[in-house]
Amino acid sequence: MITPEQLLQPKSQESGSTLDRPLDHLTACHRRIEERLATLERVAGHLDRSTGEAIEAMAACFRFFDSNGVLHTADEEESVFPRLQPRLSHEERAFIASLEDQHREADRLYAELKAVAGELQSGSAASRELQERYGAAAGRLAELYRSHMAAEDQTLIALGQRVLSAPELAEISREMKSRRRLSA
Ligand SMILES: [Fe+2]
Ligand SMILES: [Fe+2]
Repeated sequence: MITPEQLLQPKSQESGSTLDRPLDHLTACHRRIEERLATLERVAGHLDRSTGEAIEAMAACFRFFDSNGVLHTADEEESVFPRLQPRLSHEERAFIASLEDQHREADRLYAELKAVAGELQSGSAASRELQERYGAAAGRLAELYRSHMAAEDQTLIALGQRVLSAPELAEISREMKSRRRLSA
């Protein structure tokens, strides 16, 4: 029998420690997202024998994506991208637009995954067909998100370091904190 805690290992909570360094905060969030993606994929192998525990671990990941994940996307789309866009080359602006497209695609794949998870939650036992659909949906989301985060870690962070001034970074930090209802 596997416990939800074991399925979630390793885990880390969002701490406020990097919020004063917005670009570091984005990459730190990526590591936390990666952990949840790995869990969502891992539970697929436990749906037959440890259905309840697997569903519980899955639900914990969904709570993370519905809270921290949404905030992370807002940090990028509302605080970082608009400050970069006007000062970027044509190619760089196209890169930012592609990141926004990937956010929408990730939202779509996430909704699909949650729909399959909803079927799992409502059934008494997971059929092999449903398990396979879950595994495929989790795999699609993880694949897209991992390549998206790799592009952000590699290129978005470098653009931010090049373009954003210290006062702008401080402003972004204040916005990130107020988004989380933390005092700036
Ligand atoms: Fe992103
Ligand atoms: Fe990101």
